[in-house]
Amino acid sequence: MNRKHERHHHPPPEAAAKSIGQDHEILHLKDRALDGAAEGIVISDARLPDNPLIYVNSGFVRLTGYSADEVLGRNCRFLQGPRTDPATTDAIRQAIHAERSCRVEILNHRKDGTIFWNDLSITPVRDSGGPVTHFIGIQSDITQRKNAEIALQQAKAQLENANQRMRRNLEAAAKIQQALLPTHPPEMAGVRFAWRLESCDELAGDTMNLLQLDGNLVGLYLIDVSGHGVPSSLLSFTLNHLLSPVPAQSFLYGRSESRPHGFAVLSPAEVARDLNTRFPMDMRTAQYFTLVYGILDMRRLRLRYVTAGHPPPVLLPAGGAPRRLEAAGFPIGVMPEADFEEYVLDLKTGDRILFYTDGVVDTANENDEDFGTERLLATAAQHRQASLQPWLDAIVAAVRAWSGGHPLQDDVSLLALEITGADNHSFIHL
Ligand SMILES: Cc1cc2nc3c(=O)[nH]c(=O)nc-3n(C[C@H](O)[C@H](O)[C@H](O)COP(=O)(O)O)c2cc1C
Repeated sequence: MNRKHERHHHPPPEAAAKSIGQDHEILHLKDRALDGAAEGIVISDARLPDNPLIYVNSGFVRLTGYSADEVLGRNCRFLQGPRTDPATTDAIRQAIHAERSCRVEILNHRKDGTIFWNDLSITPVRDSGGPVTHFIGIQSDITQRKNAEIALQQAKAQLENANQRMRRNLEAAAKIQQALLPTHPPEMAGVRFAWRLESCDELAGDTMNLLQLDGNLVGLYLIDVSGHGVPSSLLSFTLNHLLSPVPAQSFLYGRSESRPHGFAVLSPAEVARDLNTRFPMDMRTAQYFTLVYGILDMRRLRLRYVTAGHPPPVLLPAGGAPRRLEAAGFPIGVMPEADFEEYVLDLKTGDRILFYTDGVVDTANENDEDFGTERLLATAAQHRQASLQPWLDAIVAAVRAWSGGHPLQDDVSLLALEITGADNHSFIHL
């Protein structure tokens, strides 16, 4: 051992005294620092049975309301109560057992019984790399943050509940709306019908129906209430009920003494006029609707129709190019005195008629270009070999492809009829 080393280990007495003095000073400083801390700081002795506390600072006393005398020598679990989550205590026990540090948020009780949330971290202290001799615990009161978190979670859960309730209601309403749509076409020989209604929201503002008005007459309408979603659907529900096949409660029939049942089928123009006077636009909601209503007379193979602010129907003649039909007329409810012109079209076998809402032609692509009528006509011609329903499906697919797979911005509805083969005519003339 050289002298230098020897000096290091055996300081002269006056130096040792100075060092002890310094040590005391440092200890005192540490005590003051620990006591000055806002957090609770505790030390437990892991070598004694049940890991009792051997030191608590003033922060701990302030936080818990216990004096040092009351807690030294006890395991710190006295802070726990019936509302403390056992899973959290399990986690602490396992960490202490494995001699690892841990950090938990645990519900604790003060001496006066009040509750606080404790952000607790426990760290083992090793004797120069050897066995764990002590644990240091640091406790912070996080009650305010925790309460805010809990309130936020509760608000979120309430919101989710309300959302689920609303969703369930909307789904139920959507089912009712689906049930209002034609379920099966009128059983009428010589003509075939098809339809599609793609709603952009849970509930559609578009509605449609096909009704057998009498032995030879089929009524078909497509309505588009301004806007979409729930507000529009309320009016579309109402209209669907009012344009019902039950004469006594339907706007499609008028009273007529000369008729066997006291009701006569109203012409499309009469229906539009009637709706226009009964449904003036409500200034509070600014709601109005557009309509195309046709009556197909299967005896004469003739379609009479009226449009009210609605896109013109399309005719795809057997063997000919598709074209837009004539259409004029204000939307229903916009002009109190408006009149509605009725158009008459004679059909032949193989002809198809397409009613559609503006959602079809107004669907925009990524460059904000509308699908448009020309593209609709081209698509109608391109898929003419398909039978009626797949023909509509192909048009809807083209519109969806045009939107680039983005959600629809408006309801997209189509209603079509096709005059089918001659074999049906024998039925008609019966
Ligand atoms: C240093 C130290 C500080 C601790 N501080 C707290 C505390 O503030 N609050 C608490 O609920 N538990 C505290 N504990 C945990 C409990 O003392 C005990 O270890 C825990 O409840 C798991 O053991 P048990 O299942 O035997 O009760 C502390 C533990 C140690 C070692």
